[in-house]
Parts: sequence; C-alpha cells; structure tokens
Amino acid sequence: MNIILLGPPGAGKGTQAQRLVERHGMRQLSTGDMLRAAVKAGTPVGLQAKAVMERGELVSDAIVSALIGEELDTMGPAAGAIFDGYPRTAAQAEALDGILAARGRKLGHVIELDVDEDALVARITGRFTCATCGKGYHDSFEQPRAPGVCDKCGGTEFKRRPDDNEETVRTRLAEYRAKTAPILPIYEARGIVTRVNGMAEMDHVTAAIERILAKELIP
Ligand code: AP5
Repeated sequence: MNIILLGPPGAGKGTQAQRLVERHGMRQLSTGDMLRAAVKAGTPVGLQAKAVMERGELVSDAIVSALIGEELDTMGPAAGAIFDGYPRTAAQAEALDGILAARGRKLGHVIELDVDEDALVARITGRFTCATCGKGYHDSFEQPRAPGVCDKCGGTEFKRRPDDNEETVRTRLAEYRAKTAPILPIYEARGIVTRVNGMAEMDHVTAAIERILAKELIP
C-alpha cells in the first residue's frame, strides 16, 4: 500500500506517519527529514537546501523527487510507503506517478488532514523532538511522560527545528496554499482522496486514518 498524507505545515503528517510506522510496519518517506539529514551531513543536496528551508520556501522538484526514488529503492516490494510532505507541487505529483509506475507500485489513498490554519503556528512553534530517536512532542499537547526523558528511547536531549519560528511558518503556509493545495484536484479526479479532521485529538485522527486504510493494514 502506498499513501500520501497531505496537509499544511503542522497538520500532523509526521505525527500520524510515525504512528502508522510503529503500529503497522509501514515506512515513512518524509522529504523534510531526508533534507534535514542532508543538511546535517553537509552533502551537496544539503548545502543547496539549507538556506531555502530556513526561509520556508520549497527545495527544487528534481532534488526531492530523486530523494524519494532512492529511498523507495531501499524498500522491499511488500513494504507500504507513507509519503509525508511529498508531493508538494504539480511537477512532484507527476514525478511520483512515474516513480511508482517504474517500481510496480500504485497509489492507494491520499489522506488530507484538514486543519484550521490559525492553530498551526502554535502547534509548530511548540514542537520539539527527541535528539536520539526523533520522537515528536509538544510543549502543550504531548509532553514526555517523565519530564525531560523520551518515552520511546529514554534519551534526555531534545531539539527544535530552525524553521519552526513564526515568520518562517507564515512563509511555509503561503507556499502550501500557492503550490501544494492546488494538487489535490489531481487526486480527487482519481477518487482516492479522503479528508480527515486534523483538529481532532491525535488518537482520533489516527483512528480515522486506520478506518480508511482498514482493508490493507497489517494489524
Ligand atoms: P517538512 O519537514 O515536510 O515540514 P512541513 O510540511 O512544514 O510539515 P511539518 O513537519 O512542519 O508538520 P507536520 O504536518 O508533519 O506536523 P507534525 O506531525 O510535526 O518540510 C520542511 C521544509 O523542507 C519545507 O519548508 C521545504 O523547505 C523542504 N521540503 C520538504 N519536502 C519538500 C518537498 N517535497 N518539496 C520541496 N521542498 C520540501 O505536528 C506538528 C505539531 O503539532 C507536533 O508538535 C504535534 O505534536 C502536534 N500535533 C499533531 N497533531 C495534533 C493534533 N491532532 N492535536 C494537537 N496537536 C497535534
């Protein structure tokens, strides 16, 4: 099964993708995570992407589509893929069709996380992750059970993203509205889009996604 989680910055794509990975053995393909890893490693892609990401603009279509193809090639044919933050433009949507077809894969669902934009700035600016395992938390909505200790791996170091400040978030939202939201009709025309209320509690969002995927999920 191959699915796209679509929604603006802070909609909960990463949060829900992590849950599907943990519960159903799917693989999360987050172009944001791949780009951040490239920036950290100082690769040529990372050097090109760093300033663009800090401004909240989109990295080139060719770079992100190449990253997705490379990542899919590391997966067994039976492993389900969750595209998180990709595609983000019409060119990327077209590229994904080719990437999947070349690997004998088919897109099953596009799940749109429907959110109230006003809430997103608070969500994003309060977000932090475990520096060791990457588990996501939030100052108000999801604190570690023991203060300062990661629930998943016991790590005690946490980090925040450099692009999670209000000014950059506003640019990221504008990019979403201008370039990403317009790709929805491509998938609506194929009848594979389901809208989920992304403002509901995280567990309710997960349950709604699991209902959509019920027939294909590994329990
Ligand atoms: P990327 O890393 O993809 O960031 P994004 O799309 O802006 O998405 P976020 O990670 O900010 O949000 P999310 O929806 O995953 O929300 P999360 O689950 O963390 O991209 C970063 C940059 O990389 C881009 O700006 C661009 O420069 C570049 N890039 C990446 N992909 C690209 C591409 N394809 N093309 C070109 N450039 C690309 O949730 C947010 C917070 O809210 C968390 O703290 C969470 O705990 C909380 N939360 C989640 N759900 C709920 C809920 N239901 N209720 C309450 N709180 C919730």
